[in-house]
Amino acid sequence: MTQVQLNAVRKEFGSFVALEHIDLDIQSGELVALLGPSGCGKTTTLRMISGLDNPTNGEILFDGNDVSDVPVRDRNVGMVFQRYALFPHMSVEKNITFGLRVRDIPASEVSERLEEILDIVQLTAFRDRFPAQLSGGQMQRVAIARTLITKPSVLMMDEPLANLDTNLRGEMRRFIRELQQRFNITTIFVTHDQVEAMELSDRVAVLFDGRLEQFDTPDGIYHRPDKTSVAKFMGASNIIDGVVGDGGLKTAFADLSIGDGGAFGAGSQVKAMVRSEAIRLLKEPEAGAQNQLSGTIRTADFFGATVSYVVQVGDYELNVDEHSTEMLEPDTPVYLQLPSDRIWLFPDEKG
Ligand SMILES: Nc1ncnc2c1ncn2[C@@H]1O[C@H](COP(=O)(O)OP(=O)(O)OP(=O)(O)O)[C@@H](O)[C@H]1O
Ligand SMILES: [Mg+2]
Repeated sequence: MTQVQLNAVRKEFGSFVALEHIDLDIQSGELVALLGPSGCGKTTTLRMISGLDNPTNGEILFDGNDVSDVPVRDRNVGMVFQRYALFPHMSVEKNITFGLRVRDIPASEVSERLEEILDIVQLTAFRDRFPAQLSGGQMQRVAIARTLITKPSVLMMDEPLANLDTNLRGEMRRFIRELQQRFNITTIFVTHDQVEAMELSDRVAVLFDGRLEQFDTPDGIYHRPDKTSVAKFMGASNIIDGVVGDGGLKTAFADLSIGDGGAFGAGSQVKAMVRSEAIRLLKEPEAGAQNQLSGTIRTADFFGATVSYVVQVGDYELNVDEHSTEMLEPDTPVYLQLPSDRIWLFPDEKG
């Protein structure tokens, strides 16, 4: 399989800068999610890796070799688009083998690969149907099969599940993950769905406004964001201003113990993230508990598996998610515990 590297890639469309300076090193056999809001440059990045478009500056390497002069058809990349773009007048079988037939691959090999791939994507029984006779998930599997049958060394998928309902999306994610691991194929998967990115990938590249904000494991992106923008995009609701003191963090509502404080020295102005599910909510205080704060419930919302509270602590409001069958009323006095090992510090970009 193939290692894909982007070195200082910049892309301009006229005076508009779509990608600023992208460095990405995708290991052979790795599944990387490109995650970011609409317009951040995800599709542009894929198009340049595939050769459909070229960077204005910087280089793209496959296994260490610059591919800028290698045309699309020789890069051996497979692309699955958001709109499946199946040929409506061709059967499932003909759709899947189309890419091989235009490449002059012998008929015997085409039919061998077809049987194998139909079995993998579980469409053998549907081989003679036309796209209009398939469900969304089946069409998506045809689109994936059509790409995989060409044996690409890099597989790219641009929001392939966006048109599917929630349950089918979950099923297709597991299916894609299994395929990717079975073929050990280097895969770049575009999504603007945080959960999808975390569930699927080995590492997540978070893009905003044409800049790569963070490239890390799902765990790292979720629990150890480098900056406020990534923390917020990954759903962190409690981001607290503070100043690092001796062994603690001074905030507007309390002095908190924070473990070792990481790389931040005393006096550093920082942001602290405490995820809403990391905070414990109690009706009675516990003797000697660390980082225990008293507060009052402002709002309570029921979400099935969790109850989401907004709790007022001094002038601050903290979001707390509780797995509990009991739902506390607004105005109930409560105690919050913020485990010191769940307080994550990152630089205050403005400070
Ligand atoms: N050919 C082009 N000419 C001019 N601007 C372009 C062109 N292609 C893309 N852009 C701009 O570059 C930016 C990035 O576009 P891109 O399609 O990569 O976004 P994206 O992250 O894939 O968004 P989405 O999630 O909506 O698909 C957008 O602001 C877009 O308008
Ligand atoms: Mg796009």
